[in-house]
Amino acid sequence: MKVYSKKEQLGQAISGFKGQDLTIGLVPTMGALHEGHLALVKSALKDNNKVVVSIFVNPTQFNNQDDLKKYPRTMEEDIRLLEAVDAENILVYAPTVEDVYEEGAVSEHFDFDGLEFEMEGKFRAGHFDGVGTIVKRLFEIATPDKAYFGEKDFQQLQIIKKLVAKHNIPVEIVACEICREPSGLAMSSRNVRLHGGYKEAAPFIYKTLKSAKVNFGIKSVNDVVQWVENQFYENEFLDLEYFIIAEESTLKSIDTKNNNTNYRAFIAVYADDVRLIDNIALN
Ligand code: PAF
Repeated sequence: MKVYSKKEQLGQAISGFKGQDLTIGLVPTMGALHEGHLALVKSALKDNNKVVVSIFVNPTQFNNQDDLKKYPRTMEEDIRLLEAVDAENILVYAPTVEDVYEEGAVSEHFDFDGLEFEMEGKFRAGHFDGVGTIVKRLFEIATPDKAYFGEKDFQQLQIIKKLVAKHNIPVEIVACEICREPSGLAMSSRNVRLHGGYKEAAPFIYKTLKSAKVNFGIKSVNDVVQWVENQFYENEFLDLEYFIIAEESTLKSIDTKNNNTNYRAFIAVYADDVRLIDNIALN
């Protein structure tokens, strides 16, 4: 499997494939790969001849320097996992910060029509400018036909769709369902940092989301929100940062339900210093 650290070399390989009319899929990652990432890679391999997997812990999307420092980095293991999936058709792009950000690691500023100010945007200042900057750059470097993103980061997914639409980027965004541990916990690179009671407590997040979905069918929005907040108030290992019920397209939280609108519940929880997010479609 070829691993590129320089965008020019990756670009040359991609031009060669395009010259042979081969299609390119892109799976952007920050490494510490798990089954969830591999599911994205496998979907991309089904749809495309060649798949670029980028492995880059993007500094501009971290509002918390400690989180950036502690982000797991497992390059050798990541490469081993990808090689086991398809050593011939996967290309890895694992650049340095300088290769991606030639003029210094700063974000471009984006207007995502308000999507960026909801949920994660309220708690992670500048995060979506950082995500927009790196994803736009990866699209320019890899020029993929299709790019794959998980629904765990649902707000990110909606923002990337908006980025592509507003900037007329010729790439199809493919959404992939959340992959879960047997316990129900949404797979995340951060899960390796969960230990002891926190690890045992974390599956409670999805369990509560599933109950919230049942309650959503029979109770008012406020009652569901109150109920979830109480569940976490009583949990000694998990601190709720937010739980909201929002419209899927605008990500705006709601007080009352309408017919013919898709809703989703979104949650962010701290298990010690590990921040976990999850979401569930409600109807
Ligand atoms: O979802 C992620 O891991 C990151 O936000 C992404 C899309 C790879 C950009 O750095």
